[in-house]
Amino acid sequence: MDPLRLLLPRTQAQPLLPLPTGVPAPSVRPRLVPRGRARRHRNGAARMLPASAVASESPWTEQEPPSGEKEERFDWLDQWYPFAPVEDLDPGAPHGKMVLGIRVVAWYDRGAGEWRVFEDACPHRLAPLSEGRIDDKGRLQCVYHGWCFDGRGACKFIPQAPALGPPVHTNSKACVASYPCVVQNKLLWFYPRAGPEHADVLQRKRPPFIPEIDDPSFVTSFLIRDMPFGYDVLAENLMDPSHVPYAHKGLFRGLPRLVDPGREEYDKEGGVPMAVKVEESSVNGFASSQGPGYSKFVAPCTYYGSPASKKSEVRTWDGSKNWSVPS
Ligand code: FES
Repeated sequence: MDPLRLLLPRTQAQPLLPLPTGVPAPSVRPRLVPRGRARRHRNGAARMLPASAVASESPWTEQEPPSGEKEERFDWLDQWYPFAPVEDLDPGAPHGKMVLGIRVVAWYDRGAGEWRVFEDACPHRLAPLSEGRIDDKGRLQCVYHGWCFDGRGACKFIPQAPALGPPVHTNSKACVASYPCVVQNKLLWFYPRAGPEHADVLQRKRPPFIPEIDDPSFVTSFLIRDMPFGYDVLAENLMDPSHVPYAHKGLFRGLPRLVDPGREEYDKEGGVPMAVKVEESSVNGFASSQGPGYSKFVAPCTYYGSPASKKSEVRTWDGSKNWSVPS
């Protein structure tokens, strides 16, 4: 069983998107977390537990759909996740972050001229490598006892090991898990599976590509903000235009007032039915149109929209695949 599944609150662990037509919904919704797992802060935000803590908790069961019915599942670990805009990362220091309950550290391997993303735990005593430093040879050095790692995660130096003793640093247990990563659209992305069988994942699957970000005729602004709730809540908010005249009252002046044919009563905010049409959907995302504009969601975390028309792009988008990738 995928341990990440245990980290997800019940509602998040379910496929967020409609099942394809012809696949009946299970009569009993699968219970994906043990009772009591989804703990909440007083402000309502779910609290993520470390994977080790989750694994030690009570066993749980998942009710399968009735036999013969295949539910299309979303594989949370077979995805690319944005770490940060590269312009926000200091190449002279490691940077820690938690993504879907996985603690990772990004650092710049100046010898190779590439960013790296490792598990943020030293193999010696599990100190966070994000608290370490880049040594004078350009390696990632743990702040606790000074072990040094190269860009592949191999331990290259253990200060306490005698020079004439066995080469303990070459032991595989001294290696750090290194995740596939790539810079695309000025963002550092990583893929949260570190095994050697995933080293070439870029050949098979790339992060969603947004051509406008690399197009100099567009202006790009990166914004990072910590929210006291999951990213999925924000993504759903961005997909929901009907909240704008109420939650953002007065902030968007000059927008045309929409009309609802046949309606006699409007409130002063001007809320009306939203003509959003889902053109395609699967567990991997959806494409929709709204008036002349359109939006696309590539699960798990890329949402892209425009008030301008690009209908041809929407209609050719295949929810089971990534968008076009740079050659
Ligand atoms: S915990 Fe990292 S070197 Fe000891």
